Amino acid sequence: LNLDWDIENAEKKGYEHFMLKEIMEEPEIIKNSMKISQEEIQKLSNLIDDCDKIYIIAMGTSLHAGMIAEYWFSKLGKLVIPCDSSEFLIKGIIDEKTLVVGITQSGETYDTIKAIKYAKSKGAKTASLVNVIGSTATRESDVTIMIGSGLEISVCATKTFMSQLVILYRLFIEYGKLANKDMGIYEQELQKIPEYISKTIENKEVIKRISENLTASNYLFISKGINLANAYEGALKFKEITYLHAEGMSSGFLKHGTISLIDENMDTLALIPPTKSPLLNSVLANVEEIKARGGKVIAVGPKKVDIETDTLIEVPDLIEEVSPFVYAPACQLLAYYKALAMGRDVDKPRGLAKSVTVE
Ligand code: G6P
Repeated sequence: LNLDWDIENAEKKGYEHFMLKEIMEEPEIIKNSMKISQEEIQKLSNLIDDCDKIYIIAMGTSLHAGMIAEYWFSKLGKLVIPCDSSEFLIKGIIDEKTLVVGITQSGETYDTIKAIKYAKSKGAKTASLVNVIGSTATRESDVTIMIGSGLEISVCATKTFMSQLVILYRLFIEYGKLANKDMGIYEQELQKIPEYISKTIENKEVIKRISENLTASNYLFISKGINLANAYEGALKFKEITYLHAEGMSSGFLKHGTISLIDENMDTLALIPPTKSPLLNSVLANVEEIKARGGKVIAVGPKKVDIETDTLIEVPDLIEEVSPFVYAPACQLLAYYKALAMGRDVDKPRGLAKSVTVE
């Protein structure tokens, strides 16, 4: 009798891998993040209101959550600077009107902990968004918000990314109210996010088929605006578990060099903005340029967009500020199914750790 194996299978609840289980759990899990006490959210919003600028320090997937927050807060005129934790000690400019927010699922990432300690020693207010109860980050920060994802076993961060986004989105709403902005539409949308994610992941068989037909050895993930961070995150997920080369970049940056790589070995995943987005035509124009060079384009976007691409992964057509919640799971599933088709060890990719606790 192999007890470990039995326990592991029970925990997978019938899914082949933890990664798939954790993606499929997202609509339910983020309801926990929606329930994290409003008092905690208000406490951090007050710190945000009191400061002149906010650094979000994080690594990997957590940094991409911070990049999405940068766009949310820019709508409210608040300066958020997402910063790779390992660079923060070199370029961070800190004074008593600086708030430093660490985002770290594990609460143990060496560079993020070091950066939080440094910020504190220089007189900044510090906060952290953490998943693991009692972790180092929770002890080192002035304010801690737990993101409420529960245990994430797969090395790839998926559901914890979504929970981080929910907390950041709630901070955006709360700070917006403090700044006397009408946040009504964003509050209404918050309640619908689980349903939007469900609609996206319902498409998993289509995403599976599309991923199995990908034959290139290099992948570009492009977008513009708030989903640029999802292009970075989509590429990160993809390379982490497929071991294929993937990079994310803004569709505007593409023609400054990278477009010369477009050929039959380089496919592009284009995260097409929602139909009402003012950025839509710009991304579509960049897609045309890729197609004109013979590149294959797989679009992730709403069905209504009138665009000639080779394939479409459909996501709900939302207001731009809410759209990151659907592009992310679509990219997670794409990476998952491609890695699965390649026979990769999806939950334990080679050479990677769930938490990097050394420099
Ligand atoms: C490692 C993990 C990533 C994670 C990153 C930051 O690289 O493999 O999935 O995003 O660390 O981890 P943290 O726990 O600080 O969010």
